[in-house]
Amino acid sequence: MLLAAGLMSAGCTYAGPLKWVTLGDAAYAELRKTVPQATAKASRAGQNEALHVVPLDEDLLPLLSAAVHRDLKRCGGFFVHNTEGDAMQAIAGAPVAVAALTRPSYTIDNQTTVNSLLPQLQESNITQTIVDMSSFANRYYKTVNGSDAANWLKQKWTTMASGRSDITVTQFAHTGYNQTSVILTISGTDNGSEVIVLGAHLDSINLSGNGETSHSPGADDDASGIASLTEALRVMINTGYKPRRTIKFIGYAAEEAGLLGSQDIAANFKNSAVNVVGVMQLDMTNYKGSVNDIYIYTDYTDSLQNDFVAKLAATYLPALKVGYDKCGYGCSDHASWNAKGYPASLPFEAAFNRDNPYIHTANDTYANSGNQAAHALKFARLAAAYAVELGSDGPGTPGGTDKVETFTGSLAAGQQKSYGPFKAGIGTFKAETSGTGDADLYVRKSAVPTTSTYTCKSDGSSATEVCSFSMTANGDVYVLVRGYTSTSYALKVTYKPQ
Ligand code: BES
Ligand code: ZN
Repeated sequence: MLLAAGLMSAGCTYAGPLKWVTLGDAAYAELRKTVPQATAKASRAGQNEALHVVPLDEDLLPLLSAAVHRDLKRCGGFFVHNTEGDAMQAIAGAPVAVAALTRPSYTIDNQTTVNSLLPQLQESNITQTIVDMSSFANRYYKTVNGSDAANWLKQKWTTMASGRSDITVTQFAHTGYNQTSVILTISGTDNGSEVIVLGAHLDSINLSGNGETSHSPGADDDASGIASLTEALRVMINTGYKPRRTIKFIGYAAEEAGLLGSQDIAANFKNSAVNVVGVMQLDMTNYKGSVNDIYIYTDYTDSLQNDFVAKLAATYLPALKVGYDKCGYGCSDHASWNAKGYPASLPFEAAFNRDNPYIHTANDTYANSGNQAAHALKFARLAAAYAVELGSDGPGTPGGTDKVETFTGSLAAGQQKSYGPFKAGIGTFKAETSGTGDADLYVRKSAVPTTSTYTCKSDGSSATEVCSFSMTANGDVYVLVRGYTSTSYALKVTYKPQ
């Protein structure tokens, strides 16, 4: 209110760069009250409300957030774009096709791994991360503190991943501000082109102003989301979990400034045709404002994946109560992925109108989340279950049933017989013989083996031989049995079907 009054009466002139904002009806009405000169350049029907494109001085953006929060008592999200074309495209409503989007099976078939991992997650570690992050005076996207906070997270994740050559941590630089996003990547072992993203925003904001030393601890919004993800990550690393799909943990820059960091990253992935098969956003996980524990937000998210998230909660966190709600257009980073056609979900701490009343102020502290992180721990567990269940999938379903084929035969000394092709999928391929006399075993990918060309051989001095290797892609496999002396044998071939 103060800010808006100041703007009008003092007739301030703002000289920030011109931005293009897309926003919903309700937020647009608020903007018009606060900044009457703001006028929609275009409007179009959206998912639940009409959407508008408004050119706006960057310096006026905080007024928009403040007005929406104050008057609507809700978040009225928006996307900030650099160009009119980007904004127009954002409200165009055309279905967004994603290159090579793979729909996961959403089966729950990694109970052993997930159940051994979940009890290891600890509230105290979540508390530590929240307290550490909220000890920066602010994490505003344009301040030195805001950049330092991103560097701190990069350092924390790098230390956690030390000793794992399959994990990298990078900083994603953005244009127009110094705060980076932070991306930790666990490369998938054999299905790495399929990517899972778990994200939270690392920035914070104070709607009464954002100087270098302004206070916006953002303990709940959204140190809690980063902390929940970090604890899931810690246990995944600690247990030596190696995913088949690639898993990325992302701390986004500049969410509070209009989803800037996540829009950049989602656009970058889309342009490179990255096959992101699932996105989970954790934004506010530690304030228990409602009777249910986890609220799955159903707007601007993917309903099939949301059903999967509910199934994960029912399977792995059966004591928890799950509710549903909506948060409107552009309310957090999941919306950036959703806008690019990627399936995203947002499990949230409370019903929409029962969320933490202290966010975006100097009072969003750990103390004002009740001095506990038990609530955020539920989301850490949900995130770990999500990462492992989706992360463990790949063609050939190694979790699935082996195909077993058996044969018997007799060979004279020097005689040989070939079998196959066996249509093998990703996983272990194994051939074994038993019997009388001396049989030797040769196995080869893609062609019939000879005694000098093979992928694997076993030529001991009996009929008991075994040969196994791992298939990293679907392929034909051939087996050759040779009588070194005369032999009567049984051959057993075990492999994952394609
Ligand atoms: N964490 C909030 C979103 C939120 C707040 C969801 C309350 C549900 C209840 C997020 O960081 C935020 O503040 N978003 C802005 C929009 C953004 C584009 C500036 C908002 O909702 O005003
Ligand atoms: Zn947030």
